[in-house]
Amino acid sequence: MKLVLLGPPGSGKGTQAQELERRHKLVQLSTGDMLRETIASGSALGAEVKTIIDSGALVPDDIMVKMIAERIDAPDCANGFILDGFPRTTAQAEALDEMLARKGTSLDHVLAMTVDAEILSRRISGRYSCAKCGAGYNDEFQQPKVDGVCDNCGGTEFSRRSDDNPETVRARLDAYEEQTAQLFPYYREKKLLRSVDAMAEIGEVTAEIERILSVA
Ligand code: AP5
Repeated sequence: MKLVLLGPPGSGKGTQAQELERRHKLVQLSTGDMLRETIASGSALGAEVKTIIDSGALVPDDIMVKMIAERIDAPDCANGFILDGFPRTTAQAEALDEMLARKGTSLDHVLAMTVDAEILSRRISGRYSCAKCGAGYNDEFQQPKVDGVCDNCGGTEFSRRSDDNPETVRARLDAYEEQTAQLFPYYREKKLLRSVDAMAEIGEVTAEIERILSVA
């Protein structure tokens, strides 16, 4: 199964991708995480990417397409994957269609996470993740079972993202409206788009996604 999760910053793409990965043995391909790894590597590309991410703008299409093309060729993607944060422009969507067509395959679903704009900044400002395994949490909406201990790996160190500040979040939302929202008509025309009410509680959103996948 090959899925795309489409939605604005804070809509829950990463949260649901982690759950779907666990349930369906799919691989979560988060371009945001890949870019943060590139930054952490200390390379010249990483320095360039950090400036762009901290401004809230999108990283150029050629860098993103190359990154995903290499990643989906890896053996762990053979059983399927969940694209979380890619594609974000029409050029990326077209490149994805072409790379999958060359492999004789195509996307199964594009899940559009719909959420009211005013909740997004609350979700983003409360977000943090385990520094060891990357599991996501939220001060308000998703706390670990034991305070200060990761449910997934028992880690006790947590981190917050440098682009989760109000100014950068506003720029990220603008980039979403101006560039990524164009993908709704693109995928609607291909009859791949399924809308998910991402305002519901995390478990209910997962249940709705499961219903969509089960009738497909
Ligand atoms: P990226 O890392 O992809 O960030 P994003 O798209 O802005 O999305 P987020 O990670 O902020 O949100 P999410 O939808 O995953 O929500 P989450 O599940 O964490 O990209 C970062 C940057 O990298 C971009 O700005 C860009 O510069 C660059 N980039 C990445 N991909 C690119 C591409 N393809 N092309 C060009 N540039 C690219 O949830 C948020 C919080 O809410 C969490 O704390 C969670 O616990 C909580 N939550 C989730 N669901 C619910 C719920 N239902 N109810 C209550 N709380 C919830």
